[in-house]
Amino acid sequence: MKTLIVYDSVYGNTEKIANSIGDAVTGDVKIMRAGEASISDIESIDILIVGAPTYGGRPTPPVKYFISNISAGALNGIDVMTFDTRLPARWVKIFGFAAGKIANSLKALGGNLQAVEGFFVLGGKGPLKEGEIERASDWAKKIVNRRG
Ligand SMILES: Cc1cc2nc3c(=O)[nH]c(=O)nc-3n(C[C@H](O)[C@H](O)[C@H](O)COP(=O)(O)O)c2cc1C
Repeated sequence: MKTLIVYDSVYGNTEKIANSIGDAVTGDVKIMRAGEASISDIESIDILIVGAPTYGGRPTPPVKYFISNISAGALNGIDVMTFDTRLPARWVKIFGFAAGKIANSLKALGGNLQAVEGFFVLGGKGPLKEGEIERASDWAKKIVNRRG
């Protein structure tokens, strides 16, 4: 089973979550920053996991750009999972979160959506809330490794 994890991170928190997910998933796993990933990287994968920091309720530009380069139907038959990092403050809910927006985009490209999750940072630059790295690992294991 081949898994590609594509993420962006400005202050390193989303990167820690991406790496935790990468360590948790069994099989052939590749982790790439969105700015370094290209369309050829999604050829012949079984699972695509995309994550971003939430900025103004949306993913950061490198993730948007990565997704915008995927052609319609290119994710047919590929399981997709999305995640973001976000603040726990109540007011940020008004804008929505990156993971949901990424999920909608990947579904529109043919992806088979498996899971959407948010992980909390305690401030814009972090740190991650205690336990989030372990929660990311458990989340990924539960969803990816159940496929066998
Ligand atoms: C310009 C800016 C806009 C942000 N907008 C949101 C937001 O709409 N919702 C939210 O939950 N967090 C927001 N945040 C907090 C980010 O989600 C946080 O900086 C990010 O999770 C850190 O991830 P990173 O360390 O991987 O860069 C914002 C941060 C910045 C700097």
